[in-house]
Parts: sequence; structure tokens; C-alpha cells
Amino acid sequence: MNKVNQLESYLNELGIDAAFITNPDNVFYFSGFKSNPHERLLGVMVFKDAEPFLICPQMEIPDAKNAGWESDIIGHADTDNSMAILAAAVAKRTGRLNKIAIEKSHMTVERHDALTEALGDLEILALDNRINAMRVIKDEHELQILREAAELADYAIEVGAKTLKEGITEIEVMTQIELALKKRGVTHMSFDTTVLSGPKAASPHGKTGDRKIQKGDFVLFDLGVVHKGYCSDITRTLAFGEPNDEQIEVYNLVLQAELASLEAVKPGVTAAELDQAARNVIEDAGYGEFFTHRLGHGLGISVHEFPSLHGSNNLIIESGMVFTLEPGVYVPGKVGVRIEDDVAVTDTGVEVLTKYPKELQIIQP
Ligand code: GLY
Ligand code: MN
Ligand code: MN
Repeated sequence: MNKVNQLESYLNELGIDAAFITNPDNVFYFSGFKSNPHERLLGVMVFKDAEPFLICPQMEIPDAKNAGWESDIIGHADTDNSMAILAAAVAKRTGRLNKIAIEKSHMTVERHDALTEALGDLEILALDNRINAMRVIKDEHELQILREAAELADYAIEVGAKTLKEGITEIEVMTQIELALKKRGVTHMSFDTTVLSGPKAASPHGKTGDRKIQKGDFVLFDLGVVHKGYCSDITRTLAFGEPNDEQIEVYNLVLQAELASLEAVKPGVTAAELDQAARNVIEDAGYGEFFTHRLGHGLGISVHEFPSLHGSNNLIIESGMVFTLEPGVYVPGKVGVRIEDDVAVTDTGVEVLTKYPKELQIIQP
């Protein structure tokens, strides 16, 4: 059963007349069409008992067809009232809608008001949990794309390692990485490529800047690519020149924590247990206060998606889930280390998608 059919079955089960999907990542999931509509209306309308349609800017209709969407496509021009066009397309396919499901986490209040004005008074339900539950389990086709995306992330770290030299700035290293990826056909990164050197690596969300790389720095790379619509997300921390004892201690601690969480991944454990597996290692060494974020997050069409691997999430881990494991220790002003892998849960354990070595790499100046 394809994804639209699965949603139709769900609507039938719950007696919901239609689902209107407007989050571009979810539109891609259901239609294969990836587009950033900015303020324009883009959505997939799925009915319990009528043919689905895609609504998009008129000028994108050929792109949507080429992406493989085979049902109807309704276009709207910039001069149109797109909600009126949507309502007319709904009226043509089905009677009055009494219940519609939308992504409450995505739809703006402004659009909600326009939708209800166009479709008339109706009950609006949340579709978010259902879509998250579908997207959280990856099929073999998705897994294969995620493997390829992870391979490109590994390559990016290789390029970063080769680019390091004394006096080069973080931005220059970032530029070389992205140039190399573009030569391999990568058009989008999954988020801003991060290169943090020296004490800057101790900021988990630090910004790549004009700091020059110096001997004795740890250099933290956090990056990922969008490949065939799916994201990768890797972090490696490399030593440029000989590290000091504190750097080595923190590095090996984070490595042990990451490996402990990796060993714990299998169907049946909870997200909280995975977080705890890494956190225990860091807390036992007295560095608990410096691990200031969750263990990881789901990965797929969005770079952050379900599940969230944090200490209060008792969600049961299942085969087919893909997420990051990314413990870090950040001692302000001194040393920062994070190691991040992308992993897929298998029937018996785990497949690690990112493969760049994790033992401390010392790049000789
Ligand atoms: N760079 C964001 C993350 O690793 O989650
Ligand atoms: Mn990352
Ligand atoms: Mn991440």
C-alpha cells in the first residue's frame, strides 16, 4: 500500500473526511514533489472516499508531474485566491466536509482562518501524530537513500580533514567542504555547515567564523547533506597538532559515551534508556554538567524529526527507525567534543550509516 493509500485507510478508520497536508517535507513524503513554496499555497488533499489532488503554484505543475505525482494537480496563479481554488476542487470531488485533519504544528493561524472561511464551518483535527508515526519507520528505499546521504557526509569530513592547515579560517574550511560536495552533485546542505576551532568547539550551537586554525586546536565539524530529499548529519572532532591531556581525556570520554549508546540500540529499548547509556558514562567521569543536550534526534526528510532521544521520552525503539547519536562534552572556554553518527535500527540491533573513523584523528600541521 502506498503512503497516500495508508492515509486514506486511516481517514476511513476514524471517519475523517479529508486530510490537508501543507508541511513541504510531508508534501514530499506523500507526493514525491519537493518544493519550497515560500508564502504560496502547496498541499496534498487526501479524502476518505475521493481521489487525492496536489495543489501548487501554476508554474510548478510540470515539476510536480516530473516528480512522479500521478493524480490530479490543481494550479493557482499569483493573481488567484488559492483557497477559493482549493475549495472549488474539494467541492467538485466530494460533498461538504465535516471533519478535516491538518498538521497543527505547521499551519499558521492566518492560513487556518482562510481555510475555514473557504471550506465553511468544519471540525479540524490534528494529523501530526499520525504522519510522525508513518515517517518514523523508514522503508528499504528510504534507508538506501539515507546510506548514500551518510556516505556524502563521511566524504565531507575527509575533505575537512585534508583542508586543515595553520592559519586557514573556519569559513575557508567550510567553503572547501561545500565546494567538494557541490562537485559531487550536492545542491543543499541539511543545515549550515559548522566548523568550530579551539575554544569555540565548546559551544554546541556555535557559528562558523573567521577564527584562524592554530596548532593544538580541536576542530569540530558538524554537517550534513540533502540527498534525494533525505538528510544526513555527522559530527567529528579532529585534533590539529598534538592534543593536551585534557583534550585527550574529554575526547575518549565522549567516544566511550557514543559507543555505549550505540551498543544499547536495538528494538525494545526506550529512547530514554539510550540517552541514559551515554549520559551514565559522562556523569560517572564527573563531566555530567557539560553534556547539555539530548542524545540525538530522528533523521529523514527533515534533519530533526521523530523520535527525540531524550531522558524523559519512554518511546519504544523499533526496527526501521533512523536517528543520530551525538553525545558531547563542552567545557566552556576550554575544550569541546561531540561525536555524531547516523544509525538505523535493525531487527536485531543497529546499522551505523556514517563511517568516518571515530578514534581520535591527529592531523599533523
Ligand atoms: N547540527 C544540529 C545537530 O546535530 O543536531
Ligand atoms: Mn549534527
Ligand atoms: Mn544532529
